[in-house]
Amino acid sequence: MSEEIIIVSGTNRKAAMSYQISLTYQQLLKDLGVKSTIIDLMLLPDDFSFSALYEHSGKNDAFNKYREMMLNGKKFVFVVPEYNGSFPGVLKTFIDGLEFPNTFTNKKCALVGVSSGIQGAGLALSHLTDIFHYCGMNVLAQKPKLSHIDDNFENGEVINELYMTLLKDQAQKLVEF
Ligand SMILES: Cc1cc2nc3c(=O)[nH]c(=O)nc-3n(C[C@H](O)[C@H](O)[C@H](O)COP(=O)(O)O)c2cc1C
Repeated sequence: MSEEIIIVSGTNRKAAMSYQISLTYQQLLKDLGVKSTIIDLMLLPDDFSFSALYEHSGKNDAFNKYREMMLNGKKFVFVVPEYNGSFPGVLKTFIDGLEFPNTFTNKKCALVGVSSGIQGAGLALSHLTDIFHYCGMNVLAQKPKLSHIDDNFENGEVINELYMTLLKDQAQKLVEF
């Protein structure tokens, strides 16, 4: 059995599609015999952007749980929704609250974009790739962009065959990465 992978659902929006795609991804990893844990940004403490950052780093117990998980993780999947042509601010705030640079240096991740529009969060994934490269993390080249997600997801499942092929292919490559 390979090491456990952490899946980050990249928004704190209730009923987010990103969380649904995170669940799909967790199942794909399970099918490959790989354990994973989902960090759902919706479960972060409400006030973490004020109580867990900068001079408060490490002082918010509820946030520290996630800080530790991220610090100990070796491989990540970030499911990234497109908000205003980029990724959500809460995801950047989450990253800013983590230990720098040890949380990401020399680690590996895969990115998945999700949008209701046509881009599939392509720009958001590029923006995030720049940040992770700055932090010293290796980003897998395959980055599926799941556009028009509302038309391609039904009853808890991705119903677009191409999307599923892209996700399976990426998950396999991440395990081998
Ligand atoms: C604040 C906000 C901004 C958004 N901006 C965009 C956008 O720029 N392009 C787009 O295609 N969809 C945009 N959306 C829609 C999301 O892409 C859509 O909700 C999708 O399901 C992924 O986000 P979710 O995980 O929150 O569901 C936006 C949604 C929110 C809440």
